[in-house]
Amino acid sequence: MVTASTDIDVAARALLAGHLVALPTETVYGLAARADNPNAVERIYAAKGRPRSHPLIVHVADVRLDRAMPNSWISAAPDYAVALASQCWPGPMTLVLPRSARAIDEVTGGQDTVAIRVPSHPMARAVLSAMDAIDPAGAPHGVAAPSANRFGRVSPTCVDHVLAELADVLDPTVDLVLDGGVSDVGVESTIIDCTSVAPRVLRPGGVSADRIAQVTGLPVLTPETSTIRVPGALPSHYAPEARVVVSSDVSAAVAATDGERIGLLAPARVATPDGVVRLASPLTSREYAHELYAALREADRLSLTLVIAVPPDDDSAGLAAAVCDRLSRAASTKG
Ligand code: TXA
Ligand code: MG
Repeated sequence: MVTASTDIDVAARALLAGHLVALPTETVYGLAARADNPNAVERIYAAKGRPRSHPLIVHVADVRLDRAMPNSWISAAPDYAVALASQCWPGPMTLVLPRSARAIDEVTGGQDTVAIRVPSHPMARAVLSAMDAIDPAGAPHGVAAPSANRFGRVSPTCVDHVLAELADVLDPTVDLVLDGGVSDVGVESTIIDCTSVAPRVLRPGGVSADRIAQVTGLPVLTPETSTIRVPGALPSHYAPEARVVVSSDVSAAVAATDGERIGLLAPARVATPDGVVRLASPLTSREYAHELYAALREADRLSLTLVIAVPPDDDSAGLAAAVCDRLSRAASTKG
């Protein structure tokens, strides 16, 4: 069974050789493979049990969106995407842009766009930079990395979560799991479609719509009118085994239950009713995002049958939209 390590050089060489590496990022842990190697990418889908039609994000080291670079992953970028890249990368933001020939169908899901992100976690950056240093002719190298969980499950925010999800499907003789501590943001990156006249948020995350408007000087469009497929954005996703109910009225939600083992995920000001297990008490939307997935996993560890989630009541960090999005997906009926 695979165990955790912190060896950057071994991880970079494993990726270059076409093996899998579970990599810490500031959002959630990713399961990485060399993005220009179809066999390596195929192993990601097999390990996760993920449908082949769901495209992957390519992670790179360099914040410059340089379409003139010989090995670039993109073929074009509007000025507002260049502004976003220079202001918000490295960080929890993914840009969807016209693909170059280097972005293979296994990564893009056969679409004519590619999703690209520069993570800020020092270990992720070190691994990507080491790949470029070890094999400069292939730079900028990219790794395709979905969240390092089985398909449809809660994303991992620490190495124990990754091992619980994937230890038995990785090959201990070649694959690696890197331990980079607890992910700072705690929910996945903001995905921005950059193929129309203005940026469109396809998935809310650590970079808020207000910040995107401020950086680009443009109105931020909503997903409804997009022609881009975001197959990962299924209604039922990020779900624990326990049923999740989103409600601001905890007493009413508890009163509506019968014989359930209940957990509560709520801002600190909300009191815990008798007989209910407190899973987290975040003070801010930033803390809420940071604690969310660990709290959902804790509910399953305690064999709770119901999680009542009270939405964040503070948005100073701009993460409330992302938290509410993940809560509503976790609460959506499976099937
Ligand atoms: O924070 C994150 O984004 C994490 C870390 C590991 O970087 N990654 C992550 O990957 O959340 P994943 O595979 O769980 O979610 C990627 C999402 C999916 O919803 C996928 O459909 C969408 O990105 N996506 C990828 N390529 C796309 C494209 N070309 N057009 C539209 N959506 C795309
Ligand atoms: Mg995911």
